Amino acid sequence: MEVRVSNQNSWKRCSLTQNRAPYKSHTKKGLFLLFIFAFLVFAIFNTMDYSFKPVLPSNTMYNKVLNQISYYYVVVEFPSDRENKTNYLAPLPKANQQVLQRTTTTIEISVTAESTVTKHISVDHVAYPRNYHFILDEPDTCHQQNPFLVLMVPVAPHQLAARNAIRSTWGNESTVQGKTVMTLFVVGLSGGADADNVQQQLQEESRQHRDLLQSNFVDTYANLTTKTMVIMDWLSTRCAQATFGMKVDSDMFLNVENLMTLLLAPNTLQQNYITGMVMWNQAVIRNQNSKWYVAEEMYPDPNYPVYLLGMGYVFSNDLPNKLVEVSKDIKPFNIEDAYVGACLKRLGVQPSNPPDPSQFRSYLEEYKRDEFLRVITTILNSPQQLIEFWHDLKTLS
Ligand SMILES: *[C@@H]1O[C@H](CO)[C@@H](O)[C@H](O)[C@H]1NC(C)=O
Ligand SMILES: *[C@@H]1O[C@H](CO)[C@@H](O)[C@H](O)[C@H]1NC(C)=O
Ligand SMILES: *[C@@H]1O[C@H](CO)[C@@H](O)[C@H](O)[C@H]1NC(C)=O
Repeated sequence: MEVRVSNQNSWKRCSLTQNRAPYKSHTKKGLFLLFIFAFLVFAIFNTMDYSFKPVLPSNTMYNKVLNQISYYYVVVEFPSDRENKTNYLAPLPKANQQVLQRTTTTIEISVTAESTVTKHISVDHVAYPRNYHFILDEPDTCHQQNPFLVLMVPVAPHQLAARNAIRSTWGNESTVQGKTVMTLFVVGLSGGADADNVQQQLQEESRQHRDLLQSNFVDTYANLTTKTMVIMDWLSTRCAQATFGMKVDSDMFLNVENLMTLLLAPNTLQQNYITGMVMWNQAVIRNQNSKWYVAEEMYPDPNYPVYLLGMGYVFSNDLPNKLVEVSKDIKPFNIEDAYVGACLKRLGVQPSNPPDPSQFRSYLEEYKRDEFLRVITTILNSPQQLIEFWHDLKTLS
């Protein structure tokens, strides 16, 4: 079944052309078709309603895609077989935890536009971070600040507004519960026509804030695996003294206070530890029109290993070096969070469920103070929203 959400509603057009014949001579047939049509509409809406519940991470991706690429039309597809509908985005079951959202319906969103269809991406042997070098670097910042936690934020070169919003909100939390926290932004090279301009602005921004890291790969969606491994490389070579690291996307709300409480809890391990929103038994997407398409040559198994959703995962800082080392032997593919999962599996490191999994939220439908005071991460719509919500949380608490 395929539902197209676009300006031209194709199935609607079809239904109009079906009814061209004179009405009288086809009353029964017409009524019958109407009945079938009504039933189909009912069935579709039932499924849609079911799958668009706000707490579902699939909805989040839908929103995220819509937000980032707002003017492209989106194709929502439901796989025909029941089995595959049930395994998407379900959390890692643990003996002492009830399994939530087991029956989540798969919604695969593919964004169809020339520039975003990523067919046959080849990232063979290009993801290994030491193939690259830093153009902007802060090699001494960890020695100077001796952070307990380092927040590493991958961001596109031109997204200055996102960086500034973070700098004035959670990125400005430098001491939390007595522990030093540092926030750094990670960019690649701008590939656009105005690359020289962007580069000059980045250098200026770097002089001003001293929080930019830039490596010499072209900063594209398809190169996010490289970016993540560059983050790991930087942590292992420039910041081994930190106790924890976190990869957190630039469109996230982060409650650093709650994160620190989690990291300082007596049960939180300081080695081989990684947590976030645990993804369990995710099917590899083989639809070539999908943003998340991965060819069988790049990743042959039908399912990914257990991994943490890329929007925000936190790890003990022994892992970056181990991940970089093991990545030499693991063929890269373009789904960065699942790739980290593949590396973890090879290392024999099992992702941990957070003590309270509902703190790693993908999406909160609306702003509710109490919810934002309780979570660790959730996705936001814009840098302005981050500033607004933060202001509200800080002025009233
Ligand atoms: C699930 O879908 C994949 C392709 O997307 C297919 O190869 C696999 O056989 C399906 N699983 C089941 C149980 O039907
Ligand atoms: C960061 O917080 C300090 C106070 O702790 C404040 O003086 C400073 O203006 C803040 N920086 C930004 C960019 O908001
Ligand atoms: C990824 O970066 C490499 C190195 O800069 C570049 O050659 C390649 O074109 C980029 N790949 C994609 C898909 O953008």
